[in-house]
Amino acid sequence: MEKIFIGVAWPYVNGPLHLGHIAGSLLPPDIFARYHRMKGNRVLMVSGSDEHGTPITMEAEKQGKTPKEFVDYYHKEHVECLKRLGISFDLFSRTTNENHERIVQDMFLTLLKKGHIYKKKGIGLYCNKCSRWLPDRYVEGKCPNCGFENARGDQCEKCGKTLNADELVEPRCKNCGTAPDKRETEQFFLKLSGFKEQLADYMEDKTFWKENVYKFTVNWIKNLEDRPITRNIEWGVRIPLDGYEDKRIYVWFDAVTGYFSASKEFPFWETFWKDKNTKHYYFIGKDNIPFHTIIWPCMLLGYGGLNLPYNVPANEFLTLKGEQFSKSRKRAVWVPEYLKQFEPDPLRYYLSINMPENRDVDFSWNDFILKNNNELVATLGNFVHRVLIFTKKNFGKTPEMGEPDNLDKEALKKIDETFSNTERCIENCEFKNAIKTVMELAHFGNRYLDEKAPWKTVKEDKKGCRTTMHVCMRIVKALSVLMCPFLPFSGEKLQKMIGEKNLEWANGKTDAKGKLGNIEPLFKKIEMEEEKMLDIEDFEKIEMRVGEIKNAEEHPKADKLWVLKVDLGDEERQIVAGLRNYYKKEEIIGKKIVVITNLKTAKLRGVTSNGMLLAADDGKNVALLSPDRDVENGARIK
Ligand code: MF3
Ligand code: ZN
Repeated sequence: MEKIFIGVAWPYVNGPLHLGHIAGSLLPPDIFARYHRMKGNRVLMVSGSDEHGTPITMEAEKQGKTPKEFVDYYHKEHVECLKRLGISFDLFSRTTNENHERIVQDMFLTLLKKGHIYKKKGIGLYCNKCSRWLPDRYVEGKCPNCGFENARGDQCEKCGKTLNADELVEPRCKNCGTAPDKRETEQFFLKLSGFKEQLADYMEDKTFWKENVYKFTVNWIKNLEDRPITRNIEWGVRIPLDGYEDKRIYVWFDAVTGYFSASKEFPFWETFWKDKNTKHYYFIGKDNIPFHTIIWPCMLLGYGGLNLPYNVPANEFLTLKGEQFSKSRKRAVWVPEYLKQFEPDPLRYYLSINMPENRDVDFSWNDFILKNNNELVATLGNFVHRVLIFTKKNFGKTPEMGEPDNLDKEALKKIDETFSNTERCIENCEFKNAIKTVMELAHFGNRYLDEKAPWKTVKEDKKGCRTTMHVCMRIVKALSVLMCPFLPFSGEKLQKMIGEKNLEWANGKTDAKGKLGNIEPLFKKIEMEEEKMLDIEDFEKIEMRVGEIKNAEEHPKADKLWVLKVDLGDEERQIVAGLRNYYKKEEIIGKKIVVITNLKTAKLRGVTSNGMLLAADDGKNVALLSPDRDVENGARIK
């Protein structure tokens, strides 16, 4: 029996989960964990909500909520989604958990005592206009590494380099856009430079890692620099020393320690963290690599006596029309939305067979529907259904095996091969190849069935027919086991239909003996929703006109809303618009804009709004749409 610890990147709770999280870091470890559990190995899989840091405070501020209210809401939503998707954590904790905070502080103090953390005066960015420090995501500027214009203070999204805010070229306050001051401020630093040799040793036998993860790490080790691990911020784990009440521990130091703190919730944690035979796997997206292959290993080395990551099979990104999914930029397919419409397994299937293992992969609804209909329904579901219905009708149970011919023997061999190939792929974290291997067995089953044509032999050669259906049932049983790591809900359903439950991996290769239950289709076809597309008549229902903003008043209750008076030529309307973060009063008055004029009256925080104006939103900026030459107020837009 092996012991396997599985760490899964803790998702930030700064918005709903999207499919990028599932494909990138949540589904792969679940496949891996389910497989190992079925093999009889001992697995501990933990993760939780990453609740601190600027990704959280910024979004909370935008929504006018306290960080605590904000994380409570999304933590609950994440837990619900993960459960419905069948991501089988042993524990999904959260970084605001008290026990976690204590362990982070212990990690901090231990490293401090051992000389791996030191205090140093450095430069911080301070916005005079907003009267506050600008750590991490509160500041943007040009990336010193690749020149990307909108690099964040903690990391450049373009080239992936992690940054310190003061390294940004031409930094600007994310809130007000002004250039911040450089001010002296004291922080604690993690002395990564002291681990150079130990890290190089550690990497020595890691040549089996994914190439990009390995290369990235080895390169990084060449220029190891100490990094600040505290911030001037109010939301985070407190520094357990007097005199630092206005600072908090950096969110990454806090979050990675979660792997350890969550494990410690189990009485047997030591067998996973101290027994050298336990292998530690970390499943993450590629933007998290340095934190898991450099910073976390250094923290563990410094703390002493704990197992280091054995493998960190980071995935690339799932993209949407070629661009990265992004919570903070609000470009994504959201998990709660998905789950309102579809079952979890089709998504798990699609994201397994399209997993962004070695390159970015684009998500498309069309492709999702095609894969569901042509592969899950038409190949896997159809094979299983044909076999079960036929067997039940003609034999009532799995018939006995007669004398196998060559094709029967080939089929039995195919089952064995499928098992060993799937095992090898999963153990190497090649999940896409693994699910492909499983699907090939279903393909094979369909071909075997067509060739054997039991609907003919049932009349002419009952004995042969028995053998055929016996072999088919063996394939069905094998599939009911092989599919479980990927499609756990359908696997369970199928096992129930063949009179089995919770089969272990090794059971998949044995005789099918269970009693047949109720046979139902395993998967459902998804109709291409032609009707969801708009006809031109639908579009023409929307009446749009040019209006001119005559006046703007602050909404009495909501600090993001303007109450506008808009001249539409023959009438004046009141429209409430969420533009106060983007347009000042003097900027907005006098603007010609586009208004939807035939919407039902709405009330926004108690104020009536008779229309809606059009604006473009790329997640960072909001821009009003205006006619590009002078037209009269009230002009129709067609
Ligand atoms: N919250 C981070 C992200 O979403 C991942 C944290 S992983 C952990 O990118 F190791 F720090 F837990
Ligand atoms: Zn500012």
